[in-house]
Amino acid sequence: MTSQPSVAASPRPRPGVTGSLVAQKAVMAVTGVVLFLFVVGHLAGNLKIFEGPAAFNAYAEGLRTVGAPFVGRGCSPTSGPPSRRRAPAGGRAR
Ligand code: HEM
Repeated sequence: MTSQPSVAASPRPRPGVTGSLVAQKAVMAVTGVVLFLFVVGHLAGNLKIFEGPAAFNAYAEGLRTVGAPFVGRGCSPTSGPPSRRRAPAGGRAR
């Protein structure tokens, strides 16, 4: 029996832009920059905790509603339409 070198079968290249390694790396770079900028901004926003509850709550509320009405409050798969949301037992609705 002859031993064959083990060569993994190369997958078929995907069609379109996602098949290009350069395009994949460009997407990775752009999304990385966006995430980095968000985290830096988020750090700055979180420092509002030192300005007091009102400033910090305003920042948090802004985070929840950014992107509305397309994303943000009420758009997660678990939240459902606002009309169907119920107050949690023993607490207030958001
Ligand atoms: C030590 C690190 C972090 C702290 C202390 C922190 C703190 C917070 C706080 C206090 C809020 C407001 C929550 C509210 O609505 O009452 C928030 C919201 C949020 N944070 Fe962060 N965060 C941290 C890291 C991150 C990172 C690394 C990401 C993403 C890469 C992130 C993404 C978000 C998003 C998307 C929201 C809005 C969602 C929501 O309000 O429900 N956070 N964060």
